[in-house]
Amino acid sequence: IIARIIAVAIGYACGLFETGYFYGKKKGVDIRTKGSGNSGATNTLRTFGWKAGLVTCLGDILKTVAAVLAVKLIFGRTYTEDIILLELYAGFGAVLGHNFPFYLKFKGGKGVACTGGMVLAVFPIVAPVSMGLFLVISAVTKYVSLGSIIGLISVFVQVVIYGQLGIITVPMGIRAEFYIVTACFTILGVWQHRANIRRLANGTENKIGAKKKEQK
Ligand code: G3P
Repeated sequence: IIARIIAVAIGYACGLFETGYFYGKKKGVDIRTKGSGNSGATNTLRTFGWKAGLVTCLGDILKTVAAVLAVKLIFGRTYTEDIILLELYAGFGAVLGHNFPFYLKFKGGKGVACTGGMVLAVFPIVAPVSMGLFLVISAVTKYVSLGSIIGLISVFVQVVIYGQLGIITVPMGIRAEFYIVTACFTILGVWQHRANIRRLANGTENKIGAKKKEQK
């Protein structure tokens, strides 16, 4: 249990690096006062353009990968079989740090890029379908939130399928917990999109690129 707590704490510390917020701060803007009020890649893309979106996306992915690698390095030798679970806890800690940074009054992002980073670092086999769904749905509908929600759900679904088929190796003793923690990424991620879901339902969700077209 102590290893789990340490993994989450390491993750939380890494997740605190709010890439989008710092990018905005350098430009003298609090990103959370713009667009959707989110500090993630979508809103920095919306507010500052594609370069900002890319930097934020990469930064948020990398901090999560860093958290997972740090935990692997620290605990890898002691917990040879169960390390995948601790890696997952580290990834979840990074999402918590990103979504609820204490120094920004707990108002951060929605954890989509961070979950992407966790997927890449812990079970990359899940990445093509989840990221593919995210990209295609976002591009076709222009609703990044919809792409994110479906991408997040696909992470959990794939992990359960691959876990049961033995394609992702999870020792029997930790399997249930492993699925529960994976579900937490999806549940928290969807919950963070509750305002987006409301807007999607009543047809008022922001379309990516729409603002620029209007301005032209
Ligand atoms: O990654 C967050 C995205 O799914 C939605 O962002 O700014 O439109 O709420 P936003």
